[in-house]
Amino acid sequence: MNLNKKLSDILDPKKIEVVKNPIEKAHGLPNWSYDFNGKLSVTPHIGGLGKHDVEGFDKNNSNLKEIKSKVWMDLIFININSNAKPFEEFIKPLEDRWSKFISKKDQQLIRHSTDNGYFNMIVNSNWKFAIENYCESYHLPWIHPELNRVSNIADHYHIEDENFNFSGQGSNKYSQQFDGNIKFKCFPNWPTELSEKSEYVSLYPNVMLGIHIDHFYAFWLEPISNNQTKEHFELYYIGDESASSDEFKMIREKNFAFWQEVMNEDVTAVEGMQKGRSSPAYNGGNFSPVMDTPTLMFHKWVATNLTK
Ligand SMILES: [Fe+2]
Repeated sequence: MNLNKKLSDILDPKKIEVVKNPIEKAHGLPNWSYDFNGKLSVTPHIGGLGKHDVEGFDKNNSNLKEIKSKVWMDLIFININSNAKPFEEFIKPLEDRWSKFISKKDQQLIRHSTDNGYFNMIVNSNWKFAIENYCESYHLPWIHPELNRVSNIADHYHIEDENFNFSGQGSNKYSQQFDGNIKFKCFPNWPTELSEKSEYVSLYPNVMLGIHIDHFYAFWLEPISNNQTKEHFELYYIGDESASSDEFKMIREKNFAFWQEVMNEDVTAVEGMQKGRSSPAYNGGNFSPVMDTPTLMFHKWVATNLTK
């Protein structure tokens, strides 16, 4: 009998039975259950059929383990070791950078798209190559020729956080999607003169973010093994109307298809990086001292944080 829930169960809320009235539930469904504070509430039939307690087993020793967590822009950040700096401190440099686009108050307006808002991909690569690839715009002309036609490599600038929490790129040529005369609602405090700005950062370790005047996305990585990663794409709009209404359905489909195509184009590059690193002929890599500096920042972060 499994007396303790596994960590994977803890991370998957679907596997945790949480009940309001544990005793009543115990008579109905034979599941071990926890309350909203993670306290083990019910151990059905542990002492034999119909006996839900047993001498020698103290439920208090088998509560769920508490994990440090924080919700930011609808993303749940967790720190299993509890060794990270306070989340507010961690996210401050990025929030400060983006405060000219998205105010704290406007953060509350993001809504997950009710349709065309999520896809995932299995990529045959270590998760770090997906992050590395997202840091720079150097690959634009070769990997994203269509995107490069509207937002050229020359229209991009580097983003490098001096605290080593994130790096990436910004564009000066974002153009809003439209369908006839329909356009998505914008962040109310995003200045009109900055409407063509968009920024894309890898927030270390495993989240890739994109902000635009009229939508936001989070592309987060789930490492499966040393050479396989599941990538999850979550798309958000500003307010319920853009995220849910029928009026915006067509343009949501259009925007979703656009990003899915872009992210798919990167798969070849990321899987190629994995193959290259596996080769006995690999020489440590060739990086541009000008174009790859945000990537270098991630390398330094890995060297500092993952080798202790
Ligand atoms: Fe890319």
